[in-house]
Amino acid sequence: MATFTLSDLAGIDRYKLLTGLIVPRPIGWIGTVDAEGVHNLAPYSFFNCVSATPPTVVVGTGHRSGSPKDTLSNLRETGVFTVSIVTEGVVEAMNATSAEVPPDVDEFAEAGLTAVVGTTVDAPYVGEAKAALECEVNRIVPLGDPPKSWLVIGDVRIIHVQDDILDGTRIDPQRLEAIGRFAGSGYCTTVEGLFSLERPT
Ligand SMILES: Cc1cc2nc3c(=O)[nH]c(=O)nc-3n(C[C@H](O)[C@H](O)[C@H](O)COP(=O)(O)O)c2cc1C
Repeated sequence: MATFTLSDLAGIDRYKLLTGLIVPRPIGWIGTVDAEGVHNLAPYSFFNCVSATPPTVVVGTGHRSGSPKDTLSNLRETGVFTVSIVTEGVVEAMNATSAEVPPDVDEFAEAGLTAVVGTTVDAPYVGEAKAALECEVNRIVPLGDPPKSWLVIGDVRIIHVQDDILDGTRIDPQRLEAIGRFAGSGYCTTVEGLFSLERPT
């Protein structure tokens, strides 16, 4: 078995090992707005829900040539964001919104998506998504010294869910058709591979 010491590895190798092993990752499609009101949308697979009480999600964002990505800049400016759930029907649009574009470009418009402004936050979510969360930034934690990445911790305020994937508060995973991410350009669907495992009593 090969053994790697992370501090001895080049950044790309750390990235390939971690993103190849920790799979599949959910994709948070993060909608933000800057102080001038320009909308921004980008996918982040360093993303997860880490607590239901309090309802908490996390997003990890790297930097781009030494500068923060637009999502992080906007989160610092306005303190709010949305998470649209990435499903089979919107996967191409999700990928399109990962393109590097100047901060004044609205990626909703670029990708032909409908921006729906939240009911409790000014940040927009994807109208075509089957579900979306409205969140407020709880804190932003720099990672590394000097920081190379930032962990955004968000409080979930509102959840929007399409009626036909819902039974009370239970989500039908077959109808949700969520997408997971592997390393690089690898993705998985979640319907065919779904199985049940009862917990021990
Ligand atoms: C499926 C997918 C997941 C991604 N996950 C991340 C991530 O977790 N962290 C990150 O910094 N970039 C991630 N990226 C790259 C960003 O989406 C990309 O840098 C984007 O241009 C950032 O946009 P922004 O500057 O508008 O925030 C991901 C890209 C794709 C396609």
